Amino acid sequence: MPKTEGTQTGETVEELKLAAVAALDSADSNDQLEAWRVDFMGRKGRLTGLLRGLGSLEIDERKVVGAAANRLRGELESLFEERVNQSKSSQAPVGSIDITLPGRKPSHGGLHPSTQMIREITQAFNEMGFQTIEGPEVELEKYNFDMLNIPADHPARDQWDTIWVDDDTHNDVLLRTHTSPMQARTMETNDPPIRVIVPGKCYRYESTDATHEWHFNQVEGLAVDEGITFADLKGTLYEFARRIFGPSMKVRFRCDFFPFVEPGVDMSIEWQGNWLEIMGAGMVHPKVLENAGYDSTKYTGFAFGMGPERISMLRNEITDIRHFFSNDLRFLTQF
Ligand code: DAH
Repeated sequence: MPKTEGTQTGETVEELKLAAVAALDSADSNDQLEAWRVDFMGRKGRLTGLLRGLGSLEIDERKVVGAAANRLRGELESLFEERVNQSKSSQAPVGSIDITLPGRKPSHGGLHPSTQMIREITQAFNEMGFQTIEGPEVELEKYNFDMLNIPADHPARDQWDTIWVDDDTHNDVLLRTHTSPMQARTMETNDPPIRVIVPGKCYRYESTDATHEWHFNQVEGLAVDEGITFADLKGTLYEFARRIFGPSMKVRFRCDFFPFVEPGVDMSIEWQGNWLEIMGAGMVHPKVLENAGYDSTKYTGFAFGMGPERISMLRNEITDIRHFFSNDLRFLTQF
């Protein structure tokens, strides 16, 4: 760029360019950009001053310097425009918020209906001195069947449609068909007195319909001590039914068969004029006590097992168990 010694401001085009570009670079607010525009490009600005000074130059020099100064004006104008646009787009998000849009209610999640029921059931038993524990969903045949007095050749095994886990090294691994294996596991590692309540998922190989799912929850209970009788079983489960279904709830116990209890019963509640079964129960079979290393002449106990989905279905008049696992918000948000 040619020298422009002798202009009115005493500044060359080159010097002005350096100063203008540096000042524009360091302008970082709209106010500073505007100050830059006034300072360099304004009516009394430095570029205008330089152009005005051209008159005092020799004609040849005036042509050269004039052309350079006009080019500089073009360059500075487009640099300035670029910076203004940049600063606009960096503020865009603020400008794009529509503050007139009415507020929407934030949606929040909730506990699954099965979880809510499980918590209610376990709490009822916690208040009666039972401790909540959990066990493995992938279980050994030994705990799911053998230690519960269901040997390999026993026809009772056919009641449980088992999902076996395919494993090259083991052929005794399965998805637990009930939470009862935790009876055996608890007794194996603890001495009486025992009072536990065991919620958890169970799996069975069966087709689904309104009252059957291939996976579902169960809540198992176990109490073992010296001197526990069938009266303790009845009193505990009666109190449980009153807490879940209300103080005037009537219950009924009838004989039933489960290999790990003797005698075994099913418990029903009187629901809208009908007796509906809500759980299996019984006095822990002496063989189950012995299998766990307990002296069955010294200790007795009771056990029970129920399906929280079934209890929720009764209380909430739900007609199809599959709703619990279909992930449909129209169902889930009603709880
Ligand atoms: N495990 C049984 C089932 O899945 C339920 C059950 C019945 C559990 C009687 C018990 C019991 O502890 O005493 O059908």
